[in-house]
Amino acid sequence: MPKAKIASIGCGWVAKRWHLPTIAELTKRGDLDYVAVCDIDESTAAEVGEQYGLPYYTDFEQMLEKHKDIDVVDIATGDYTHHSVAKIVAEHKMHPIVEKPMCPTLPCCDVIIDACRKNGVHFEVAENYFRMPGDRILIKLITEGVLGDIMRVHFIEPFRQSPFLHGSGKPRGISRPVSHFGSHSGVCIDMGVHRMSQIRFYANSEPKKIAAITKQFVPGDDKIFEDWGHAMIEFESGAVGIYETSTVGEQTVKGRYITGTKGTIMDADHWSDDFPLRALVNGEMKDIPIEKERHTVDGVDVLSRIVVHTEPEIVYENPFREYAIDEWNVGTAEEIMSIANAALFDREPEYGIGGRKDVEMCIALYESSLLGMTPVEIPITEITNYEQMVHDDYREVFGHALDKR
Ligand SMILES: NC(=O)c1ccc[n+]([C@@H]2O[C@H](COP(=O)([O-])OP(=O)(O)OC[C@H]3O[C@@H](n4cnc5c(N)ncnc54)[C@H](O)[C@@H]3O)[C@@H](O)[C@H]2O)c1
Repeated sequence: MPKAKIASIGCGWVAKRWHLPTIAELTKRGDLDYVAVCDIDESTAAEVGEQYGLPYYTDFEQMLEKHKDIDVVDIATGDYTHHSVAKIVAEHKMHPIVEKPMCPTLPCCDVIIDACRKNGVHFEVAENYFRMPGDRILIKLITEGVLGDIMRVHFIEPFRQSPFLHGSGKPRGISRPVSHFGSHSGVCIDMGVHRMSQIRFYANSEPKKIAAITKQFVPGDDKIFEDWGHAMIEFESGAVGIYETSTVGEQTVKGRYITGTKGTIMDADHWSDDFPLRALVNGEMKDIPIEKERHTVDGVDVLSRIVVHTEPEIVYENPFREYAIDEWNVGTAEEIMSIANAALFDREPEYGIGGRKDVEMCIALYESSLLGMTPVEIPITEITNYEQMVHDDYREVFGHALDKR
């Protein structure tokens, strides 16, 4: 079997925890060939290079020049750098996969899309949630009609404020500066892209418009962007999505609640791997049992399959059940193999442009807030006030344009 040669750029928190061990396991099983790693920070590059027995670099262009036969490059360098790194990767005729959010603005997403089109390579976005087993079976239940027509999707994600600061003061709406350009952006896009992706899958429809409000309740020198946001999304099908996220105060009610004409998922803990299903059986709402079968591979607890006891049964089979990959990292393995197969067989990656759609929904959320909760239509056809603020801030801090790199 042919296997894609892969390298990593950016070996920080997410790479060390999920990407590197998953790519190493896929390499061990013969699906990939792990060629090299790169981090701008020398001690990080050396640490992971030595851990995985790979050549390591601090300059990614040097790595791409040295290993000209790399097929796929896994990029986890931080939101504001994805497009400039991915563009250079594409210019080397290699296929990039970038972590989420694809980019902080749509013009930056388009830098990746244009560079890949010009150079005849594919791109993927490492959106992991919809690829995890629990979400795969949930989405299958929806697309197979077990819940009927979806009417409402409600996703609430509060994080406990830590440390808790008393006297939050007067809340600030969106105003410049909007970012300090670290690895992550504000919570409405950082976690927002994941949740917009899931809400879209659960609604089983495409978004038409978004009305939203965001606030920064707790001021802080190290935190200049929003710590709370609420959005209402109208879908083409008529379904309504309600999204709320928060990093302020104590943790309030949380979960995802999906209501269809024939069934519901009222999941009070969206972080757990399970969810309760109730659906109409012979005209009566009944609890439908969901079973998980598990086994162990090299000491790792591995999910084999999920069986939903509907009539007929609906089943999810873990494609990585023979691998030492836990339930969470099935999503990581799927996103990496999506771009590896796109590179090897010239086929469309599974998500790709979906990553831009998630950014678009988050930009609509910010723009609506900026416009005093005026609904913003999707697709967004020109640069928004919010994106212009991000670009202006970036130019002020770094002295050059963010979206032309
Ligand atoms: N999918 C998820 O659930 C998930 C979870 C966490 C983070 N993320 C995303 O992953 C990205 C990275 O987040 P993180 O928490 O790992 O950040 P991090 O700061 O821990 O890691 C980023 C790493 O990239 C390196 N880097 C930066 N620029 C570089 C360059 N030009 N060349 C080589 N190395 C470079 C840094 O030195 C650092 O080690 C972010 O975009 C974040 O949103 C996704």
